[in-house]
Amino acid sequence: MIFVTGGAGFIGANFVLNWLAQSDEAVLNYDKLTYAGNLNNLLSLRDDPRHLFVQGDICDTATLQSLFAQHRPRAIVHFAAESHVDRSIHGPAAFVTTNVNGTFSLLEAARAYWNTLEGEARTGFRFLHVSTDEVYGTLGPDDAPFSETTPYAPNSPYSASKAASDHLVRAYHHTYGLPVLTTNCSNNYGPYHFPEKLIPLIITNARAGKDLPVYGDGQQVRDWLFVTDHCAAIRRVLEAGRCGETYNVGGWNEQTNLSVVHAICDLLDELSPKASGSYRDQIRHITDRPGHDRRYAINARKIERELGWKPAETFATGLRQTVQWYLANDSWVSQVHSGDYMKWVDLQYSNKDAS
Ligand code: NAD
Ligand code: DAU
Repeated sequence: MIFVTGGAGFIGANFVLNWLAQSDEAVLNYDKLTYAGNLNNLLSLRDDPRHLFVQGDICDTATLQSLFAQHRPRAIVHFAAESHVDRSIHGPAAFVTTNVNGTFSLLEAARAYWNTLEGEARTGFRFLHVSTDEVYGTLGPDDAPFSETTPYAPNSPYSASKAASDHLVRAYHHTYGLPVLTTNCSNNYGPYHFPEKLIPLIITNARAGKDLPVYGDGQQVRDWLFVTDHCAAIRRVLEAGRCGETYNVGGWNEQTNLSVVHAICDLLDELSPKASGSYRDQIRHITDRPGHDRRYAINARKIERELGWKPAETFATGLRQTVQWYLANDSWVSQVHSGDYMKWVDLQYSNKDAS
């Protein structure tokens, strides 16, 4: 079996669902169920004996060690993290606790477990760390996209905490020989995306008749990748990646935020038109994010060349599927909106009109 951390979050849940759609190998899904963890993402696995869910914290080394000893996973795929840049600006402590200390605890538990393995179980074991392109910092308009050798220059508490976790993972390979793999991926989008992030926030606000908040001039650039393409990349790296290596994963799909918001409005105008006017009328420019990175772009040639992975979806096909998913899943959205979500919206968006 494989041991997945953070498998009730956006990418983790998509990964677990995809994994079990393609393989009979069981998954132990270990997740703290923070505000971002949602068992409704995994409802279709409710009666599936191949999926074992355990609620727990990656900072809890003792529990991790006992679960590893009991279930003897052949691999750990590590998604669990605090993942939202804006929340890291309001409250960085949780990011250091989970992303740095939690990854450290997980590495310690993994190392202790791996040291008990012998023969093929030991040589075949893998620790795959899911990280982000944000560790590389920000690009100018004419800079080459991030490659695996781009120096780290994280700019937010979130990206600094992810960079620290990447360094710990690297050190556990270099010092102890732990067979690690790291992926650094660009912005994901797709089903089950928590609506604090740009794409699901715009879709759900548009449908609720609310403002569509664009930070600053909206000319910041992100490289968007459909989530199932990211899941396929992780499966491929787990299967054939070289231990100790890092792999950049991206969509070859640079878009300004404003063009993403326009594309969503245009899809909604087509698929769920308003009585009058366009969803574009709801766009509002608001105060910019402090320290906002201007541009991310990924050079994903290494994973393509070495492992034969490239994205299957285009932005047009992926965004259409995403908007259709949100239109078809009102109950998922209402459930998410009913939690602490509105408190976050108040904290982040009150009194932020652009001057
Ligand atoms: P998410 O916030 O949607 O989900 C995170 C999950 O981790 C949640 O289920 C949460 O309950 C769980 N979790 C948080 N703290 C935990 C702890 N201490 N112990 C156990 N579980 C805990 O995040 P996501 O967007 O799915 O991102 C998953 C991973 O992928 C993260 O490591 C993130 O840095 C990375 N990543 C995300 C993106 C993106 O665009 N979303 C892109 C590249 C990399
Ligand atoms: O690049 C990978 C990263 O992508 C991941 O590591 C992070 O976990 C993930 O959250 C994401 O970070 P971003 O900060 O790029 O994503 P977010 O969806 O928060 O914002 C995307 C862009 O849209 C960014 O430039 C900020 C802008 N934005 C965001 C929100 C929430 C707005 O203009 N308005 C908004 O309301």
